[in-house]
Amino acid sequence: MSTPTVKELLVKSETRTDIMVKGWIKTKRDSKTFSFAELNDGSCRENLQIIFESRNGDFSAVLPRLLTGVSVAITGDLLEAPAGAKQKMELHAKKAEIYGDCDPEKFPIQKKQTSDEFLRTVAHLRPRTNKYAAMLRMRSELSFAIHKYFKDNGFFYVHTPIITGSDCEGAGQMFSATSLDLGNLAALPRTDKGEIDFSKDLFGKKTYLTVSGQLEGETLALALGKIYTFGPTFRAENSNTYRHCAEFWMVEPEMAFYELDGDMALAEDFVKSITGHILKHCGTDLDLFAKFVDTGLMDTLRNVTDNKYERLSYTDAVKLLEPENARFETKVNWGVDLASEHERFLTENYFKKPVILYNKPKNAAAFYMKLNDDDKTVRGMDLLVPRIGELIGGSERENRLDVLEKKMADMKISPETYGWYLDLRRYGSVPHAGFGLGFERMMMLITGISNIRDVTAYPRVPGYAEF
Ligand code: 4AD
Ligand code: MG
Repeated sequence: MSTPTVKELLVKSETRTDIMVKGWIKTKRDSKTFSFAELNDGSCRENLQIIFESRNGDFSAVLPRLLTGVSVAITGDLLEAPAGAKQKMELHAKKAEIYGDCDPEKFPIQKKQTSDEFLRTVAHLRPRTNKYAAMLRMRSELSFAIHKYFKDNGFFYVHTPIITGSDCEGAGQMFSATSLDLGNLAALPRTDKGEIDFSKDLFGKKTYLTVSGQLEGETLALALGKIYTFGPTFRAENSNTYRHCAEFWMVEPEMAFYELDGDMALAEDFVKSITGHILKHCGTDLDLFAKFVDTGLMDTLRNVTDNKYERLSYTDAVKLLEPENARFETKVNWGVDLASEHERFLTENYFKKPVILYNKPKNAAAFYMKLNDDDKTVRGMDLLVPRIGELIGGSERENRLDVLEKKMADMKISPETYGWYLDLRRYGSVPHAGFGLGFERMMMLITGISNIRDVTAYPRVPGYAEF
């Protein structure tokens, strides 16, 4: 006998006899002649209503055990529910089998304790709640939307290394990756100077977990044209905020023959498209967030899909922000790296729609961003959205060998380590550009969830790496 999912059964809405469903009991109530249980199998937000009637079978031994969280297999007939019922179909049980009991005194997922803070302490069980299951289904749908967008637009999905010797962002926020046993200091190989000898590491050198696949992505774009990566990235920054994780997923398209304008246009089209996909395909899961998490969610999403994004140069942004300095913790003047409070002011209060901020000061920029003719700003851009601030960071890349070499020398970046990166500028260099979208921040945008710890199954943040 096949075991269809609740989703399949409810979508088809066909009467069926003798089918088996498997899942977990959400609630159960008894009346004189019937018992009703709601079963959820994770396939969708909806529960299947199950009706136990003594004329269909003897359920006296099972019913007392059908408590919240119990796993079951129920066999019965799927019939049309009476008018006014929550679902069109309901299952009339003939047989019920319990896989695993669930002690209501001990099961941590109870109606009474549902704060996000508490649920983080039981992250292995929180997917059993409606909210976290919906979040995880939307993560899956968002991933699909991203792949679909790029496939439809002629991009190739490439895989860049997770272990790397390069520091893309040059911010020194990298986790070391080593085969040496750091737990046994006395046994570590040492150089003459007494430092750890990484030439004895598996890789023969010091390596790290990647902060971004961009640099390797550039090498692939300069062969395939348009590529994207979608993978985990790691940052050892001690940022204990609502929007920073030490491990997060990033989507990084990189395009040969693109300049900054094309890069900004792609970022806007991409974010609109994947948000539109979510609006179209996440129905009842999205409703849950719009009802219980952020009542302004639908407005925010339509704001993202329907508006033309404001394009604002950094210099113009500073002109707008300076008169507002009284409200900011960090005062703005030309040259300051804008913080989340400034970003949010621009997108939430001032323009009230997404903003693409471009041409930032070169001092606050990564080494690879293309220098503008003013010698003060670079062709970098950030896409800012309400509630989150920076969702995307990207740039046109410096494709002139001499300018890049000088920049690297100024920043004391070794031309030997990055010889391969410079080769892209030596052999058939072309203008190219790309950006990185933080997948968890996109999840915050589409769910209305306000803390990044709650848009991923197992967050890695300062002081926390459970599971
Ligand atoms: O702005 P970032 O640092 O840009 C890069 O890494 C470029 N190499 C991307 C590129 O051009 N290919 O990071 C890109 C995005 C940010 O806009 C943000 O959404 C997200 O990644 N991000 C984080 N998300 C969660 N936690 C963190 N600690 C993040 N740091 C960046
Ligand atoms: Mg950035």
